[in-house]
This record gives sequence, C-alpha cells and structure tokens, in this order.
Amino acid sequence: MAAFPRWSGLVDVIEHNDIVPAVNQIETHPYFQRRADQDLMTERGVQIESWGPFAEGRNNLFTDAVLSEIGAGHGKSVAQVVLRWLIQRNVVVIPKSVRSDRMAQNFDVFDFSLTDDEMPRIAEMDTGASLFFDHRDPAMVSTLSNVRTHD
Ligand SMILES: NC(=O)c1ccc[n+]([C@@H]2O[C@H](COP(=O)([O-])OP(=O)(O)OC[C@H]3O[C@@H](n4cnc5c(N)ncnc54)[C@H](OP(=O)(O)O)[C@@H]3O)[C@@H](O)[C@H]2O)c1
Repeated sequence: MAAFPRWSGLVDVIEHNDIVPAVNQIETHPYFQRRADQDLMTERGVQIESWGPFAEGRNNLFTDAVLSEIGAGHGKSVAQVVLRWLIQRNVVVIPKSVRSDRMAQNFDVFDFSLTDDEMPRIAEMDTGASLFFDHRDPAMVSTLSNVRTHD
C-alpha cells in the first residue's frame, strides 16, 4: 500500500477554497522529516516551512552523535547542520533563539554544503512520528478546533 502523507487535509483545504495556501508550516526536523507531506505540497504548489526545526531540543538533538560528527567535519554546530539540511531540502526555516550569538550562528549556514553522503545519513534519522502530538488524534483535533485566538 502507498505511504500517504500525514496531512492529506491539505487537499481538503485546497479543493474547498478559492486561494491555495502559499506556505504551510508543519513539524519538520531530523526525527520527523515529512517527505511525503513535502511531495504533496510541491505537487500542489505549496511551500513547506519547518515548525520546530530543532525539535525544541527533544531527543537530545543538540548532542546527537550523527549530527555532531557531520558538524565537526565542517566546523559547524549541530544547529547549523540541521538548518543547512533543511535548506538543502528546500524547506523554509525560521529558527528562534533569544540569544544573539545563536542568532548569528543560525544565519551562518550559507558557506558550506552537506555532501551526497551526509544527506542520506540524516535521512536515516527519520522516525516518521511526531515528537509532540498527532493531528489525527480525535482529542487533539477537538482541542485545536476549540482554541480561540481572539474574541
Ligand atoms: N505557527 C505556530 O503555531 C508556531 C508555534 C510555535 C513556534 N513556531 C515557530 O517555529 C520556530 C521555532 O519553534 P520552536 O522555538 O518551538 O522550536 P525549535 O526551533 O525547534 O527550537 C528552539 C530552541 O532551540 C534553541 N536554539 C536556537 N538556536 C540554537 C542554537 N544555534 N544552538 C542551540 N540551541 C539553539 C532555542 O533556545 P534559545 O532561545 O535559548 O537560544 C530554543 O529553545 C519559530 O520561528 C516560531 O515562530 C510557530
């Protein structure tokens, strides 16, 4: 059976509205890489953007052995490797930091490239599952549906 994208609801949104979303921000990081979702967005003309590019540090991302080794080879941090990997996958990334040194570090990712050997090593880290919650969980759908952002 074909592997369906995790968020086929995008098709529902597109088919039932006049305007196709320009960008769709979804959880995307080394442990949940969203390739099928990205393929669907590309096919439908929607740009994928990473939510939580560092997985908020979960799974000890910032000390991950594979990412650390790849970074050491380029003189870059794990954070920089992750950002570079997302950019090379054509995933828009807007990392958040409250520290100016990290902000500078996060911009400094355009003077190196991950190799054709390194990209598949990171691809192998994909668990195919969220580190946060599942949008197919009825209780979560109900919770999100009832969030009020304004009166
Ligand atoms: N659309 C939405 O509903 C939504 C919701 C949440 C977040 N977002 C967006 O998603 C982006 C980030 O999300 P997020 O903050 O939840 O998760 P994240 O990017 O996965 O993780 C951010 C964490 O990484 C740390 N960090 C940043 N740069 C680092 C570096 N170079 N080295 C080590 N640690 C670093 C930050 O700590 P410090 O700040 O202490 O450096 C922060 O704790 C933001 O652009 C945000 O606006 C969108």
